Amino acid sequence: MSELSVNHLLGIKYLKEEDIQLIFETADHFKEVINRSIKKVPSLRDITIANIFFESSTRTKLSFELAEKRLSADVINFSAGQSSVKKGETLIDTVNNILSMKVDMVVIRHPNPGAGIFLSKNVNASIINAGDGAHEHPTQALLDSFSIRERLGSVAGKKVVIVGDILHSRVALSNIFALQLQGAEVKVCGPRTLIPKYIESLGVGVETNLRKALNWCDVANMLRIQKERMDLSYFPSTREYTQQYGLNSAILKSLDKEIVVMHPGPINRGVEITSDVADSGQSIILDQVENGVAIRMAVIYLLASKIKQ
Ligand code: CP
Repeated sequence: MSELSVNHLLGIKYLKEEDIQLIFETADHFKEVINRSIKKVPSLRDITIANIFFESSTRTKLSFELAEKRLSADVINFSAGQSSVKKGETLIDTVNNILSMKVDMVVIRHPNPGAGIFLSKNVNASIINAGDGAHEHPTQALLDSFSIRERLGSVAGKKVVIVGDILHSRVALSNIFALQLQGAEVKVCGPRTLIPKYIESLGVGVETNLRKALNWCDVANMLRIQKERMDLSYFPSTREYTQQYGLNSAILKSLDKEIVVMHPGPINRGVEITSDVADSGQSIILDQVENGVAIRMAVIYLLASKIKQ
């Protein structure tokens, strides 16, 4: 396979296993490029990309911008808080105004699930979903799997547990699709109130006991409690959540084997993960961030190749 089967990256749900392998092979090349003294390639000198963020972001926004600049694309950045969205402009009007400045690709983060899908049907540009509400965060799942492949040699056959706030997590859903597509086995672990009822219909196991889940897995992906998406109380207190579902070095050391620890960030140190675990040799949290640039370069490069045809 030499090109992606899709014209937009809206979710892992729309990808084939071959798409993921093509993205990984392309990212392998770009990872080598960004570790050279000259970190830039001229591939996308004729492409203009708009990063439009309606929600706060550190990793994803900076990583996309760096990926675009490493590929020599022209880049414009838009933050809703400082824009005419505040004056009542709609999403379509905002994006069409940006596109009239001859923009080829839009990277969008939005609090509403389906925002990227909506845009792809209504504007003439290639769309990359950088996180849409609690729906999908496809580039996060790609960089997560790429990091597992880098640490463990492959994703196929690995056992991955995703721990914490599954209900409000776009990272969980995208990871479930990506891991299963590559032949990994997935479980989720957390309080029942934070696990959606439909999850088992996706072929995902459910475990409410953290120790059992950790003893089962090769990789634990620890998620943040997304208080900004919660209008109810889902557990008695943060302290009790940490006692039952927080990962600390005592639990980690008591396991039968050495597992890999991941976190998409931002971390709430001392809540879902202690500092000594987050900063330990078993943690690949900063590798995930580093790999995010190579993965996003690969996705942008492959989608831009389809625009140029
Ligand atoms: N992992 C992630 O999406 O982080 P940001 O919200 O900082 O982009």
